Amino acid sequence: MNNLARIGVAVPDDLLEKFDQLIEQRGYANRSEAFRDLIRDALVQEIVVQPKQEVVGTLTLVYDHHARQLQERLIGQQHDHFEQIVSTLHVHLDHDNCLEVLVLRGEGTDVKAIADRLIAAKGIRHGKLVLTATDAPKARR
Ligand code: NI
Repeated sequence: MNNLARIGVAVPDDLLEKFDQLIEQRGYANRSEAFRDLIRDALVQEIVVQPKQEVVGTLTLVYDHHARQLQERLIGQQHDHFEQIVSTLHVHLDHDNCLEVLVLRGEGTDVKAIADRLIAAKGIRHGKLVLTATDAPKARR
């Protein structure tokens, strides 16, 4: 068990009020626990824990399947990284829009690079990668 360090944080009143509402909604016991979770999440998302650490990520993409050659390009990129992309879920949201959720697994730097490239593909309306790690710091809780 690590020693606990105490820090003082200056926060504007209105921001703290919103933070307190959030931690109540999420059911945290206190501010410290909520704050620790925010730090852990930020560390996992930026992979500063260990760059070579294996991570698991879900990448959500929304795009218009009419966008020129987009679907072909997406499929091509996914086949280029078949070792890291372990599963893909496709949902036809409406007449035009598709939702894809990809599960990626591999070294953090690789997973981030693949996701960044897919999100940057022309025609993608929204893309977001959420990373987690099997040995993320939270497991210690
Ligand atoms: Ni579709």
